[in-house]
Amino acid sequence: MRFAIWGVGAVGIGLASTLARPDERLLLLGRDPETDEAIARHGIRRTGLFGERVVPPDQLTTRMDPTSLFEDPPDWHLICTKAYATDAIAREFAPLAPALAKRTRLLLCQNGWGNEEPFRPFWPQTRLFHARVITGFKRHRRHEVEITAHASPIALGSVFGLEIGSLVPVAERIDTGGVPAETSGDMPAVLWGKMLYNCALNPLGALAGRRYGELTADQTTRSLVEEVIREIFRVLEAAGISLPWPTAQAYLETFHAELIPPTAAHESSMLQDLRAGRPTEIEALCGAVERLGREFDIETPVVSALATLVRRAEGRTS
Ligand SMILES: NC(=O)c1ccc[n+]([C@@H]2O[C@H](COP(=O)([O-])OP(=O)(O)OC[C@H]3O[C@@H](n4cnc5c(N)ncnc54)[C@H](OP(=O)(O)O)[C@@H]3O)[C@@H](O)[C@H]2O)c1
Repeated sequence: MRFAIWGVGAVGIGLASTLARPDERLLLLGRDPETDEAIARHGIRRTGLFGERVVPPDQLTTRMDPTSLFEDPPDWHLICTKAYATDAIAREFAPLAPALAKRTRLLLCQNGWGNEEPFRPFWPQTRLFHARVITGFKRHRRHEVEITAHASPIALGSVFGLEIGSLVPVAERIDTGGVPAETSGDMPAVLWGKMLYNCALNPLGALAGRRYGELTADQTTRSLVEEVIREIFRVLEAAGISLPWPTAQAYLETFHAELIPPTAAHESSMLQDLRAGRPTEIEALCGAVERLGREFDIETPVVSALATLVRRAEGRTS
């Protein structure tokens, strides 16, 4: 089973470290020549939770070689870029689709909801899958990542509720490669479980410049966090998407008692993106809630206000 990874960042390198095998070459499709060079020289290295794994350069190919994509096509293409790069990846992928669509499958490994949309015009949904990652990968050098946190196994599934047998060997491969992974028969619930946490904390953490524990300790920001969660529950109820928690209140009890304490010192990755002058994943997070709310006629004033403020902070006017 061969893999190609689009986006050679923290998650891309982390997953590559689990998937590489001595008898195969794994394709790493990034866009940074210095990263390619570092990987060609040193291979990749993963440290942190679950121990060390080094993959030597001879198990990796870092240059896009069209012949390797077509003559010996990867069985899986993993999309590991930030969500805002999905449109660009889909544009690169579209011309390859007629030759690849019968032989290969896509696995979108990004945060957010709706990342599959740019692929749908040209890619069959039976070959389009998602992964939810709540493992923290920190990239220290171009070719090195550290696993700094792990909340639950990487979950693989179909948001369309389709057959997921093809994902079983992928989950096994990631798992035996050192990071717990499993398949899920209810991917919308799994992805929205993470959306609740991300939408409640990332934008506000970025705008307020506060860590997650500080956001919930302060009464003003805590009430905004809780209102985001209630708005998302209302939207999902209208959209017919069910969650493992029957009500927003039930989720909030888990959120405050179990999810916040171990991540109280965490800083929002959106804050890091804004500080670095990069775009953020706001459209795949609060933007996706807004769009779904509009579709089902449910107002999302707090989610929309946060989305608007983050867009402004990015320097956008719309
Ligand atoms: N890191 C984590 O702990 C973690 C945990 C859970 C979920 N996630 C999610 O996983 C996704 C990836 O996050 P990450 O932390 O791995 O991000 P990252 O470290 O920024 O890596 C993304 C990589 O994609 C590359 N890229 C961007 N546009 C590209 C293009 N058009 N073609 C090829 N490569 C391109 C970037 O290159 P440049 O450096 O040149 O921009 C970067 O190397 C995000 O959705 C994130 O929210 C991350």
